Amino acid sequence: MEDSRFTQLLLDWFDGSGRDLPWRFKGGAHPDPYVVLVSEIMLQQTTVKTVLSYFDRFMQCFPTVQALANAPLEDVYRAWQGLGYYTRARNLHRSAQIIVGEMNGCFPQTLEALKKLKGIGTYTQASFLALAFNRPETVVDGNVIRIMTRLFHRTEPVNELTAWIDETARRFTSVLRPADYASAIMDLGATVCTPKNPQCTYCPWQEACLSKDRADLEKIPQRRLTAKKDMHSNVYVIVNARGDVFLRRQTEKGLLSGLYEFPWREAYDVAGAEDTKKTVTHIFTHIRLTLNVYVCHAEVAPTVGEFVSLTHFDRYPLSTLMKKVLKAAREFL
Ligand code: ADE
Repeated sequence: MEDSRFTQLLLDWFDGSGRDLPWRFKGGAHPDPYVVLVSEIMLQQTTVKTVLSYFDRFMQCFPTVQALANAPLEDVYRAWQGLGYYTRARNLHRSAQIIVGEMNGCFPQTLEALKKLKGIGTYTQASFLALAFNRPETVVDGNVIRIMTRLFHRTEPVNELTAWIDETARRFTSVLRPADYASAIMDLGATVCTPKNPQCTYCPWQEACLSKDRADLEKIPQRRLTAKKDMHSNVYVIVNARGDVFLRRQTEKGLLSGLYEFPWREAYDVAGAEDTKKTVTHIFTHIRLTLNVYVCHAEVAPTVGEFVSLTHFDRYPLSTLMKKVLKAAREFL
């Protein structure tokens, strides 16, 4: 089948079966690059389902790039709460400031100019330019890798196929409708060519697919497994006589990141720390972190920070990990 035929079949399928998502622009509407940027950053490490429950609220808090640039970082973190990977929020905020302060409020429209923004790798550069400016950039994410390797039944480990995947994905990219094509290939991966139970009978490329009906279909693409590193530490929930709990600002890369945390990482010699026998586990990209939760009673702050009344906790943005710690310690407070 000709490359252009693949493109056409996918676009036809998208016109009938593409997802309706709040950051999408249908019916010829001109996309707002700010909406595209926010959604693409949110979608970097978070599923569509989760992003759907945060996106509208974030856009209400910061409806324009100017509003985001002018907001205190802490407010941005608060609106980001629950999405995790807070570096993204900080980078997005910084990017908004660069766009407003250094680019006159005009979004970059080339790969070169996009590099001046923060936290935008190869994938997001391509998806942003395709979705916001209809540039024929080729998007290669996990969906595209799965679709291409299955379509041509490439059973080698994916890390050996990088150049082939880029080239194959590029061949099919639409020149006339690049934004729709980028959305379409993501939707095909998310709703039809799924990791488990792919719905091949709905696939616009089923006739050409070399993996359809083969027993090893779900095993493609073959990934080299990288085990997550196990890390263990203690976390201390310190309560004073009034029942207030100690919180400190998290420091990251020497910056005050704006999120709050219970003391952990360092070994605290907190007298009378009560082992709650509870642990919380959190998976980061390469790490599985397990924290033993201790509750201690003390009047003096162990580090820079403050005792906060539990009724005021919602004013202090906590990461998902620290929310889990709070939940684990609740019955001891
Ligand atoms: N994943 C990354 N970007 C996406 C988008 N714009 N729509 C759906 N899923 C995505």
